[in-house]
Amino acid sequence: MGPMDGRVVVVTGANSGIGRETALTLARLGATTVLACRNATRAAEAARAISSGAGTDDVHVVGLDLADLSTVGPCAETILGGWPRLDVLVNNAGGIWSSRTVTAQGFEQTFGVNHLGPFLLTRLLAERLATSAPSRVVTVASFGHHFAQLGMRLSDLQSEHGYVALEVYARSKLANILFTKELARRLAGTGVTANAVHPGPVRSGFGMDGDLGGIQGWGNKVVRAFEISSRAGARTSVFLASSPEVEGMTGGYWVRRKPGHLSRPARSQRAATELWEVSEQLLGDAGFAPPPLPANAPAGT
Ligand SMILES: NC(=O)c1ccc[n+]([C@@H]2O[C@H](COP(=O)([O-])OP(=O)(O)OC[C@H]3O[C@@H](n4cnc5c(N)ncnc54)[C@H](OP(=O)(O)O)[C@@H]3O)[C@@H](O)[C@H]2O)c1
Repeated sequence: MGPMDGRVVVVTGANSGIGRETALTLARLGATTVLACRNATRAAEAARAISSGAGTDDVHVVGLDLADLSTVGPCAETILGGWPRLDVLVNNAGGIWSSRTVTAQGFEQTFGVNHLGPFLLTRLLAERLATSAPSRVVTVASFGHHFAQLGMRLSDLQSEHGYVALEVYARSKLANILFTKELARRLAGTGVTANAVHPGPVRSGFGMDGDLGGIQGWGNKVVRAFEISSRAGARTSVFLASSPEVEGMTGGYWVRRKPGHLSRPARSQRAATELWEVSEQLLGDAGFAPPPLPANAPAGT
């Protein structure tokens, strides 16, 4: 018997890095583990490794490309149809892109993949999380949000008037924190908690796919010397997904399993509400209006 026996957990981007270690650890703790990934071959390979590493067949793959919102609904439908409950959603998938590219719906890639896609997926799964309560949403943000000193810059959310990869990434991670804050507020009373994580500087595949040309090289090698393993990086995600110590705690930002330090823009309730409303509007305009949040939410939409 493991502490997560009978619990259903979805981890996005679980085929590599922090997500893979998070899924492996939760599977070892007894959870039914669903890997939501964009590449079927990489995901199947990860599922096999997690199955054998955790000694369970209860590891599953669903397709999800956060850069194409048309895949998010079918992913949610597969999850809702495949399992009667959902105890934990870990919004882990994310990326950084050296030059400006856009998603299938024309959103700037970093904002689309790191924020808008997870926003829609969470909304589509929120009702099931509520009927399975107590349940948890864990979103992998970053210390990097501190570099978005000017906040979300709503006037240029799509980074059309200037693109600096690290800044755009920082804003997307700030978005993860503001999303978590507002989600926690709107789900108050439903038994669904929402928390954000900084995993630490992790030696994963992150930013190493050649996508970040200029940022790699000598400086990156120095940074890499201080990095921790993906397993260590998954610890805070696993803690928030499974520990009784954080039962009922919501709206937090966690580093090394403790409350972390937020930048000033990340503490703004107004920014959190504005981002929420703009995100809904953008999704609606693109033809992917999210469903209302479950009842008991005081400021439900
Ligand atoms: N590594 C760090 O030092 C660090 C620090 C702070 C925060 N983080 C955050 O930690 C999270 C996980 O990163 P990682 O370090 O484990 O990096 P990683 O090994 O590169 O993993 C990223 C995951 O996201 C997936 N992904 C990327 N684009 C996607 C899309 N369009 N649709 C669905 N999945 C997509 C990737 O899938 P593919 O394999 O198909 O590309 C991969 O599974 C990210 O949110 C990142 O921002 C990392």
